[in-house]
Amino acid sequence: MKAFRIGIIGIGNMGGALLKGLAAKKGTQVFFAEKDSAKRRVVRRVCPRAKALSLEELTKTSNVVIICVKPQDLEPVLDVIKEYLTAETLVISIAAGVTLKKLRRLLRHDLLARVMPNLPALTGNGVSAFTVADSRASRAVREIFSILGSVLEVDEKKMDAVTAVSGSGPGYFAFILAEFRTAARRAGLSEKEAVFLVDQTFGGTALFLGKTGLHPMEMVKRVASPGGTTEAGLSVLKQRKMGKILAETVKAAAARSRELKK
Ligand SMILES: NC(=O)c1ccc[n+]([C@@H]2O[C@H](COP(=O)([O-])OP(=O)(O)OC[C@H]3O[C@@H](n4cnc5c(N)ncnc54)[C@H](OP(=O)(O)O)[C@@H]3O)[C@@H](O)[C@H]2O)c1
Repeated sequence: MKAFRIGIIGIGNMGGALLKGLAAKKGTQVFFAEKDSAKRRVVRRVCPRAKALSLEELTKTSNVVIICVKPQDLEPVLDVIKEYLTAETLVISIAAGVTLKKLRRLLRHDLLARVMPNLPALTGNGVSAFTVADSRASRAVREIFSILGSVLEVDEKKMDAVTAVSGSGPGYFAFILAEFRTAARRAGLSEKEAVFLVDQTFGGTALFLGKTGLHPMEMVKRVASPGGTTEAGLSVLKQRKMGKILAETVKAAAARSRELKK
């Protein structure tokens, strides 16, 4: 695919992040379709380079169409765009739980990809896992979604696990962070001190592991000296079977992802 002419349908959280990133990319033309007129006005102000089009015009003009509407709004969109696709149009869906098989059936189209981004994508710190129905799609998906952070291609049968790990993962980490802040308050810190120390510890640990490449369990050993404070804290996490709790968390989310596809 030469120069991208990208059409984004649905300018909500994800569509908005993609549009902002892509509109700043040299040599890429960006179009969008959004049914909410207030959102269209915001886009005109924030991304004047992006042109608002109808679904029909967008599909005819773009060589990549990215569908960013909620899964329940997907079918009416596919119903319209399927009439205007050419064999060379790459269609990318980010709708959670909508399989390539279903997209192929509804669109009668083969050049397809399915992407699962996550919420940190809104600040360019996301991770997107994707799967393609045609290998010609891989390079374009990789290039486009790197605007939102890191990218990983996986086999489609792993998409439920991906949804449970990187799709839902920011929710688990945010939940643990909130509980850790509460625990810090209970230990005698003020709200401001608890937020500051917990957030810096979380962020710093993730950055440290990323930069050093150290295995997390190696880091545990380095922090926890025998008979010390960390060991005392860790013994509670082990007794309460933190590993089992996380395994059950991911398993439940993957099972729900499988159910939602039905
Ligand atoms: N948010 C996440 O963390 C996340 C993570 C992974 C995957 N996803 C997937 O990303 C997709 C979008 O999620 P989101 O959170 O960005 O949703 P969102 O904020 O609700 O955005 C969807 C946008 O699409 C618009 N829309 C609906 N039907 C349309 C149509 N026919 N033509 C043009 N625009 C239309 C909606 O307008 P109205 O508001 O007026 O209906 C809304 O502005 C979903 O399929 C979700 O499964 C989201």
